[in-house]
Amino acid sequence: MERINNMVGFENSLIKLPKIADPRGCLSVVEARRHIPFDIKRVYYLYNMPASAKRGAHGHRTLEQCIIPMAGSFEISLDNGFAKKSFHLKDPAEGLYIPPMVWRELVDFSSGAVCLVIASDFYNENDYFRNYDGFLEAVGR
Ligand code: TYD
Repeated sequence: MERINNMVGFENSLIKLPKIADPRGCLSVVEARRHIPFDIKRVYYLYNMPASAKRGAHGHRTLEQCIIPMAGSFEISLDNGFAKKSFHLKDPAEGLYIPPMVWRELVDFSSGAVCLVIASDFYNENDYFRNYDGFLEAVGR
């Protein structure tokens, strides 16, 4: 199954989140196993990035994540060893789902960008691929 997932691209990676708009502004919501396909164990966020910052550049063995641009915009590229796709995230009502075994890189942060990451598990350095060649080997490339 994992191998089959790795053979496909990222056509269904963007998740439209509910957006409740009224004259007071907008409200969006993420519920575990309703809007995203995993239970939520951790939330972290990136902010104060210089425009030249490159973040990510790693993969995860088991972690699932959903990335939401809370403010501003940035580019995120996904690579499962077989297919690559880049996304320009700028809509706080849209999340990018990242399954396990995907290399991701985040660049081109706008001024004031805030990147929210919702994750399926606690922080565990042993879950990371920090080396791209090691990641490619693990996915069978
Ligand atoms: P890093 O993985 O380099 O961030 P990114 O991939 O978003 O660019 O993490 C930066 C540091 O923060 C690193 O020392 C690990 C630490 N960290 C935690 O302690 N807890 C966490 O949940 C995360 C995501 C990172």
